Amino acid sequence: MADIGEQAMEVDKQPIKDQQQAPAARTYELPWVEKYRPQFVRDVVGNVDAVARLQVIAEEGNMPNIILSGPPGTGKTTSILAVARQLLGPSLKDAVLELNASDDRGIDVVRNKIKMFAQKKVTLPPGRHKIVILDEADSMTSGAQQALRRTMEIYSNTTRFALACNTSTKVIEPIQSRCAIVRFTKVSDADILARLQVVIAKEGLSTTKDGLEAIIFTADGDMRQALNNLQATHTGFGDITADAVFKVCDQPHPVLVQKMLADCASANLGEAYKGMKALCDMGYSAIDIITTVYRVARNAEGMTEFLKLEFMREIGFTHMRIGDGVNSRLQMSGMLAKLCKLALASSSG
Ligand SMILES: Nc1ncnc2c1ncn2[C@@H]1O[C@H](COP(=O)(O)OP(=O)(O)OP(=O)(O)O)[C@@H](O)[C@H]1O
Ligand SMILES: [Mg+2]
Repeated sequence: MADIGEQAMEVDKQPIKDQQQAPAARTYELPWVEKYRPQFVRDVVGNVDAVARLQVIAEEGNMPNIILSGPPGTGKTTSILAVARQLLGPSLKDAVLELNASDDRGIDVVRNKIKMFAQKKVTLPPGRHKIVILDEADSMTSGAQQALRRTMEIYSNTTRFALACNTSTKVIEPIQSRCAIVRFTKVSDADILARLQVVIAKEGLSTTKDGLEAIIFTADGDMRQALNNLQATHTGFGDITADAVFKVCDQPHPVLVQKMLADCASANLGEAYKGMKALCDMGYSAIDIITTVYRVARNAEGMTEFLKLEFMREIGFTHMRIGDGVNSRLQMSGMLAKLCKLALASSSG
């Protein structure tokens, strides 16, 4: 018995040693999306009109009930938190109730927690209200949303609601009718670049023009994705070059896709097929390839506008079929053949 006891103690000692060394040896960096989350509304880039409206609210107070809706990674959560911070300052802790999809938000919570918060007395300056932030509101059940309707009205002189969601249609009509809807769209390439440059300067990164273009291309209007890709590339490869970005993000390289489309535009089916086969052999799935093909076609140069639109239509149809699950190589080959045919028709017509 004594033996076993000693062994156990030996085993126990080991982790304690490790723990003592741990804090000094390992300092992990915060993800840049959190490190550079804007603290003030004025630092949120893109969506100029929406941000301007929020800026006015943040300065003047008397916040209406609002719904922010738009695609992921465009600054909805960030903006609401910034508005709350600017409005409430030191009382932020007492006067804000933040619930997101990770919290239980069933009917009971609406009936108890939210109502209790609405009834709570907090002394605030004039024109300021307590704020209930319901992030990712599209995941709330309609029952829970129904339970909110009257609460929103009864306590409106002390408590205001701010909802964020990706699809505003998943918020029930009566709640939409009680709120001002602020719509966010994808962040434009120029705005993403502007924000990236702030981060690049602060982190002292070395970048190339192609590398930045690659980050913006892969992010496709999602600022969170852009920052994550930037950090992943920096951690993996150091310098931000186009090749490094595409290796980290593991998307088909647009240059290859561009060549494939150029072959189609000159009706060279053989070469175009080789390009497609090469992409498939690299292991990219049909959906990865078609998404990149669409994005490259949208930005394609050196094609007449008419041909470009015809191309995009055909690519769209193929995208739909692949989305439905018909993702064989035959579909992709068929698309290339149709594109070549369109190119021939437009050159002869
Ligand atoms: N418009 C923006 N300006 C500056 N940074 C942004 C912007 N949008 C997003 N970011 C960055 O991306 C991160 C995530 O943004 P945020 O949480 O606001 O996204 P969201 O719109 O709430 O997305 P989701 O719909 O996925 O919840 C932020 O921490 C910030 O670093
Ligand atoms: Mg969010």
